[in-house]
Order: sequence, then structure tokens, then C-alpha cells
Amino acid sequence: MCGIVGYIGASAVKKTLLDGLKELEYRGYDSAGLAVMQNGRIEAFKAAGKLNNLVNKTASFEPKGFAVGIAHTRWATHGKPTEINAHPHRGERSYVVHNGIIENYQPIKAELIGKGVKFISQTDTEVIAHLYESFLAKLKDPFKAFETTVQSIEGAYAILLIDETAQETIFFAKKGSPLQIGEGESGRYLASSDAPLIGVCESAIYLEDGSWGYVSEREIKIFIGKNIVSPQKKPLPATQGAAQKEGFRFFMEKEIYEQTKAVGETLASRLTANSARLDELSADFFDEAASLRLCACGTSYNAALSASYLFERLAKIEARCEIASEFRYRDPVLRKNEIFIVISQSGETADTLEALKMAKKAGLKTLAICNVDNSSIAREADATILTRAGIEKGVASTKAFATQMTVLWLLAIYIAQRNGADEEAIAKEIGAIRRVPSALAIKPERHERIRRLSKRYLHGHGFFFIGRDIFYPLAMEGALKLKEISYLHAEGYPAGEMKHGPIALADAELFTIALTPKTILKEKMRSNIEELIARDSTLLAIGGDEAAYADDRLDIDERDHPMLEFFETMTIIQLLALEIAVRLGNDVDMPRNLAKSVTVE
Ligand code: AGP
Repeated sequence: MCGIVGYIGASAVKKTLLDGLKELEYRGYDSAGLAVMQNGRIEAFKAAGKLNNLVNKTASFEPKGFAVGIAHTRWATHGKPTEINAHPHRGERSYVVHNGIIENYQPIKAELIGKGVKFISQTDTEVIAHLYESFLAKLKDPFKAFETTVQSIEGAYAILLIDETAQETIFFAKKGSPLQIGEGESGRYLASSDAPLIGVCESAIYLEDGSWGYVSEREIKIFIGKNIVSPQKKPLPATQGAAQKEGFRFFMEKEIYEQTKAVGETLASRLTANSARLDELSADFFDEAASLRLCACGTSYNAALSASYLFERLAKIEARCEIASEFRYRDPVLRKNEIFIVISQSGETADTLEALKMAKKAGLKTLAICNVDNSSIAREADATILTRAGIEKGVASTKAFATQMTVLWLLAIYIAQRNGADEEAIAKEIGAIRRVPSALAIKPERHERIRRLSKRYLHGHGFFFIGRDIFYPLAMEGALKLKEISYLHAEGYPAGEMKHGPIALADAELFTIALTPKTILKEKMRSNIEELIARDSTLLAIGGDEAAYADDRLDIDERDHPMLEFFETMTIIQLLALEIAVRLGNDVDMPRNLAKSVTVE
């Protein structure tokens, strides 16, 4: 989704801004731009499409020495992904970049048009620059004009604004979209996530909602309302960590292979000989817990749904799941003895963050399962368990899901222990969870078989991924992976539900991907498969239940625990989606229309 970079300093401003945008590229965008101010003059460049187009456009622009710059990658919300709609947007002498949505932009725009202001883009963002300039004309003070602008806009935003009349200054405002300030040897930086700051700044100031102010060469001033806020610096890692493809064709492919290592990290120091340990949770965290409410979006929601089976089965605690965007507006009944668990890779998903805030406001104890320390969600929740997946660059989530599932399984074991579960049952779970890394290891011959098979699944009028129990959410995840990167229509469905409607679609051109584990509900699954085969659906069975008569089969290893079958099956559906997308010639890591971190609702 949209990304922001700002810089004040004397170190190759254009390169600094472009390098920063490059770090945000994987999050998804459809145009980019930058503006640089030197000696009271601003030059701006914008380009639709990939960052390389902006690099080409700015090829002969080489500002030397001290400069002030802002830059942006845009993921279109208001107006098409054209050059005109790309940020920065300008007034007469000011330029602005913005993430989020200005909800009251229409009345502001109408009023400004009434006063003779000309708009050139279809965006909500352009109003910020014009509004600022209209206040500047009245107040004759950039600081006051910016303050009044911030007071006048509604919605969710992270904003940077530069103005030729306020040299050496970047104004900023943050509400509902992430924004942080970093300081390094070569200058001061602003960014919408840590990625552009890592390696150039030692620490970052994570701005709270409602913050606004300015960064100049001399100082950083942060306000909330009229009050000055003292910045709290938090250390940043020295390097970006593993973010190269390392010989793989795509980040997604590398991340699928990395899952075995990532889950090893997730489990490190969280298992004793016969118990699960979660030092992040205070001893009394679950003391009052009568039930769990899990809330997330997309893949993280699929993890929540799979985990709800584990919580009820192992820990004997009621667990309900919520899609965050639905939860927010349906006036849910919340009980104080319910623990509210949000799951998010990025920690910045707008709907999940707002759902978390709602639950907190209602007095619930909150827990985040998150991959990004210091993210908005991690900072908001009462407690956070980090998934330790490392940076995930592929838009289609893989190792983030594997590590979320591992943490959720650990949590289910942890609560089961507290609820007095049988020691033998716990020991069985501990023994099994230790073997997740090996269940995730990918054999070259397996990958090759999937690659060869993928050529038979490139057409048809749709895919149904079906499964039962924990394999139903996994089927949903398989369908999500496939549609995200192949652009083929796919649905995840509970296998037993097919006969209640979707089976009407069954014919030879309907591809059914059936998840057929051997350790759980195998007879039930067999019957569901027979029903589809009888109606001539083309069927690929993933799992290996021998009786599953199918057109194609991808068998997994003998496993004695459904969760181990779950993880191994997961790698197969991930690789299948990957290989189908590759054959279709799609951009696997940055699929069309998608963003890695969805910071608008
Ligand atoms: C997964 O492949 C997707 N890109 C998407 O569904 C994602 O899981 C969702 O947007 C939630 O993101 P989060 O985990 O960062 O909150």
C-alpha cells in the first residue's frame, strides 16, 4: 500500500529518497513520485507504474548538497493510477504526500473550487496542499497554516508537506496511518515503516495518533493538539536482514522454502521438555478468560479460523473468529472476560488495528500475534507474541502464515496446560509441534512434481479448495493464495457444504483441490470427494488418503498428527499456486491490485 519517505540532509537526496521507496516497493503500489526543495525552490517528478519509471524520469536531476525531500509510492484509492494522480500533489508553492484517506475532502474541495482554486487530480490528497495554502494566505505563518490544516481534515492519514516559504522544514501529521521519524549521521528521515530507516538510522520515534509537527535541520517538534510531546526513541536493527532472493526466482518461493527455518525461530525458547512457554504473557493473563475472540484479515483470518479449532479442541476454551472489517461496524457484543486476539503479519492493517482499539475501549484484555515489533498493532495491544517470521516480501503471505499457525498452536497448548489438560495429551502436542520444521522442509522431487502438474490447472471455470476441520481454513488459504497470484477464480469451502449448493458447478472444467489428510475425518472427506467425482469434477487430492480416488494426487509423508499434515499440505498448496502463476507469466511477488500492508479500510 502507499509508502512515504522524507529526508532532510546533505547526503545525495535523490538517491536517499529512491532507496527509501525501493525498500517500500514490496508493499504494493502503482505510481511513484518525489519532490526536492533546495534554496527555497521545489522540483517534483512523478511516474505511473514501477519505480524504475521514476528512476528514468529523474535521471538527469542531480541535486547537490543540503536538501529537503519527500517521496511516495501510491496504491490508488481515489482516482486511477495515473501520473497526474501520483503524489506529491501540489498547490502553488507547497507539495504533499499522503497515506490514508481524507474523508471530508469533497466539501473542502467544493469550498476551495468556489474560491477559484483549480484542481488537477482526482485524489483526496490534493485538497491538503490547497487547503494549507489558503490558510497560509490568511495566517501568513506556515506553522499555523499547517496546524489549521490538520485541524480541518478528517479521516486516516500520514502526511508530509514541504513549502517553499518554510525552507529546511518538513511538516508532518499522523492519524491512523503509520509514520515514524529517524535520525542518522547523514540527516533526519521520515517514513511510513521501519524499512527505509534501517541501516541509515539507529533509532526511530514512532508517532502516536494525533501527532503533528515539523522536522527541520535544527529540531524535531511533535505536538498532540496544542501540547508538545517529548519524543521516545526506540532502537532500530542495524541491518535489513535477509531480503535478497538468494538464488530463488521470487521472494515468495524463497519464503516458502524458508518456512522450516522461520518456524524454528518461532519455537526457539518457547518449548520446555513437556510444556509451552510464552514469556510475553504475564502469569495472570488468562486468569479471567472465559472465551477468546480472534480477529484479523485475509491470510491472518485463515490462521485465526484454523486456530479456533485448536483452542476449542485442546484448550477447551470457546473461540470465535471475526473478519476485522465486518467486526468494526456490526456493533458486536463484547464481554469483559473475553480475551481479544488480533493476528497481523504487518501490524499495520487498518481494519485489524481499529478492531483492536474498539476491543480495548470496551475493556477487553488484548493480545496481538504479530510479525513486526513496534508496529501500530504491537504497540496498541496489552501483550504481543512476535511470530519471528523475518521480513516477508512476497505480497502473498506464506511464512507469515506458517509462523502465525505455530504461535497459535503454542498458545492453544499453553492455555490447555493452564486449564489442566491431561499431561499425556500435552506431551503429545509438544512432541508434534517440535516436528513442524521438518514437516515444512521441501523435497526437490516434490517441487518438481508440482511444477509439472501445474500445467494441467491453468484453465477451467474455477477452483474449489475443499477440506474439513482445520483443513477447511487451510482450503480457504489455498484458494486465497491461488487467486492472489494467478488471477484465477478460486474458493475455499468446507467439503461437507459442497452438496448444499456449489456442487451445481461440478463438471470436468471445475477443478477441485481436495485436502485429504489421513489422521482426521478421512471417511467423511472420502464421501465428499466421491460426490464430486460422480459429477465429473476434475479432482486433485492433496494428502494421501489412499481411498481418495482422484484424477491427480500429491501425497504427503506419513504423519501421526493432523497439524503436521496441515503444515506439509500447506507447503504444497503454496507451491501449486506459485507454479500456476509462473506458468501464467504473472508477477508473483507483486500481483496486480494488491498491497502487502493494507493501511486503509
Ligand atoms: C495474504 O496473502 C494477503 N496478502 C492478505 O490477505 C493479508 O494476509 C491481509 O491483508 C492481512 O495482513 P496482515 O496480516 O498484515 O494484517
